[in-house]
Amino acid sequence: MKLTQEQNDMLNGVHGEAVAYSMRIQVGMGRIFGAKRMVPITRAHVALSAQDADVWFVEKMLGMGGKCKIAPTVNPSIDLSYLNQHLAQIPEAGLDIVSRTNEAYKKIGAVLSFNCTPYLQQNVPAFGEVVGFSESSATPYVNSVLGARTNRESSQSALCAAITGLVPEYGLLLDENRRAEILVEVKAKIKDDFDYQLLGWCYPLVHNGPEVPAFLGIDERATPEGFMNFGAQLNTSGAVGLYHVVGITPEAPDERIVFGGKPPKRKVTIGDEELDMVRRKICGGPGKVDFAMFGCPHLTIRQVADIARICEGKKFAVDVWVLTSSLTKELAQRMGLQEIINRSGGHVIADTCIDVPPCWRPYYGGVGVTDSPKCAYYNEIRKIDFKIRPLGVAIESAIAGEVRL
Ligand code: F3S
Repeated sequence: MKLTQEQNDMLNGVHGEAVAYSMRIQVGMGRIFGAKRMVPITRAHVALSAQDADVWFVEKMLGMGGKCKIAPTVNPSIDLSYLNQHLAQIPEAGLDIVSRTNEAYKKIGAVLSFNCTPYLQQNVPAFGEVVGFSESSATPYVNSVLGARTNRESSQSALCAAITGLVPEYGLLLDENRRAEILVEVKAKIKDDFDYQLLGWCYPLVHNGPEVPAFLGIDERATPEGFMNFGAQLNTSGAVGLYHVVGITPEAPDERIVFGGKPPKRKVTIGDEELDMVRRKICGGPGKVDFAMFGCPHLTIRQVADIARICEGKKFAVDVWVLTSSLTKELAQRMGLQEIINRSGGHVIADTCIDVPPCWRPYYGGVGVTDSPKCAYYNEIRKIDFKIRPLGVAIESAIAGEVRL
């Protein structure tokens, strides 16, 4: 790799130990992936997880005098006080790791957004911007929908990028790697945001490889929520950091351009049969539920409004958790949506992830309902069995205490 004089100084410790350590990691990654140089970033997002490895790494950086050059937004942690008050006392070990994580990211200079959809608010890159983003729904959204450029960073490599202000130039940062190689003919009718959850989960089951897919046959632009769902599932069921939708996403005006004038390496078809296969495989049958959980990724204000519209004047039969960003929660308060959900017995909680081990303990071993395959998948290790339904059906199920269909 060819480094500038300043980058060599950074690597050799002239700018401090944390910068040198970050550079060693990033230059090492760059060499593995054949990067020729380091390039500056304008934004970063760190998928903090409030788990052992995460807090170990950020505290190590702090111990070496680390400070972010580019202030990154960060993923959700836990709203400890809300959960202590409304669900159960968080065990001591959980309290310790969450407060250490939050404190460390504050000291290192992160924007404490605690939200996993930074690409919709607070940290929205423009077309062509080079950024260092981690988080499974964020990387495909940023690359595919906004046309900015990031590799699928880990939370650690994204933090290194925030500290150095640089990333190694390889993979999805380069034009030649952004072209599609797999043509996905979508024959199924994709009519709502939930269909994007299923389509996103389905594609890696039909073709699982590192190539960039281009989806053909989707005529209408997805809502931001549809794209958010799509990327979250593509990058959880598989490892898709960039996709194109021909005629809709910015780097895919037509089939010829998106494939760079070359024929696709492989063509696959996703029809109703494939989506039904996914439905049967992951969604679960009817039956009683113990609780409902929404917001993986964090819900938008439109989704919170949909929930309030459905539950207004009714009572939930089970606990309902609506996870969102602090900004959206504030909006929900102002708009009276939170009050409606609270009156029905539901909770609107900010800053919190469905995947932070100590906090959802009362539901371990139970049955939940959600609209998110990612939420269901991440909680399998806690023996939580989720039924997956469209958001509206899932809310009705929480009112009934059971999934009827
Ligand atoms: Fe967000 Fe946590 Fe799900 S970061 S996407 S709520 S696993």
